[in-house]
Amino acid sequence: MDLSADPDGIAQAADLLRQGLLVAFATETVYGLGGDACNGRAVASIYAAKGRPSFNPLIAHVSSAEAARRFVQWSDMAETLAAAFWPGPLTMVLPLKKGHRISSLVTAGLDTLAVRVPAHGTARALLTAFGGPVAAPSANPSGQVSPTTADHVRAGLGGRIAAILDDGPCGVGVESTIVGLAGEPSLLRPGGVALEDIESVLGTRLHLHQAGDLLTAPGQLQSHYAPDAPVRLNAESPQGDEVLLGFGPVPCDLNLSEAGDLDEAAANLFSALHTLNATGRPIAVSPIPDQGLGAAINDRLRRAAAPRDT
Ligand code: TXA
Ligand code: MG
Repeated sequence: MDLSADPDGIAQAADLLRQGLLVAFATETVYGLGGDACNGRAVASIYAAKGRPSFNPLIAHVSSAEAARRFVQWSDMAETLAAAFWPGPLTMVLPLKKGHRISSLVTAGLDTLAVRVPAHGTARALLTAFGGPVAAPSANPSGQVSPTTADHVRAGLGGRIAAILDDGPCGVGVESTIVGLAGEPSLLRPGGVALEDIESVLGTRLHLHQAGDLLTAPGQLQSHYAPDAPVRLNAESPQGDEVLLGFGPVPCDLNLSEAGDLDEAAANLFSALHTLNATGRPIAVSPIPDQGLGAAINDRLRRAAAPRDT
């Protein structure tokens, strides 16, 4: 069922969550596939709807930093980052607190929990109306391109979920940045908050994930965000049958940002991949600078281009 992002739609969505059903909802990053994080059956059905490997833990979405502190052990660094970037596209991984009530399917059995306070008005209204933590991965079949519109969600998961809370396209367009604070402060996934901004607020560098490090954020699985067609990166021009996804003032089939603006490019990224994927032709992508949100864009593009056998 399609619900509109008005008080009535939000109340209905919160009721569905209370019944243990799944609701896809708009956030500022991508659409999330939400279920009650304290209800094991609801969380199990998230994994089933996505076809997601069960070792890949989920982010618990909450309405405020205060709500987050009920579930995780807080720290000075967590406080600093929450003050600077919440609500917003930042997820923190922190040690679980005793008596937390979160289903162990959310954490995939880890003793840490990923928590995020989204900034999007509809997501916040839903979290407030529901009154508890909502587990929500991106609302796409596992391994495929993430959804930034309700149409993307319908195309990928339609028929497998109770409702979609439609609130137009997502403004940021790439998933949240994930910072691990349970051990050495580290960047687990680049995303909607630039690494440079996080390091400047913390006054320290984050440990960067290296190939060979323990797999702690399965967004780190190599092939992910993958369209059906092959993807070729750093392309100056298309070859053969390729469609070119451009960046900056280049002749191309679709442009992430003619002005060369990385924030605009991030907002357009997944929609562009959905659109080009529908052409059935191989996809070539212009070079994208690796600073600011460019780091998250390049991370997603590298995974989209990775060999599919993982
Ligand atoms: O922007 C976002 O973060 C979106 C919206 C819906 O909020 N959500 C999202 O969720 O991207 P998902 O499930 O697609 O990605 C969550 C990532 C995964 O790579 C997962 O492995 C990692 O977070 N993660 C979750 N819990 C973790 C934990 N305890 N330790 C390390 N990584 C964790
Ligand atoms: Mg995802």
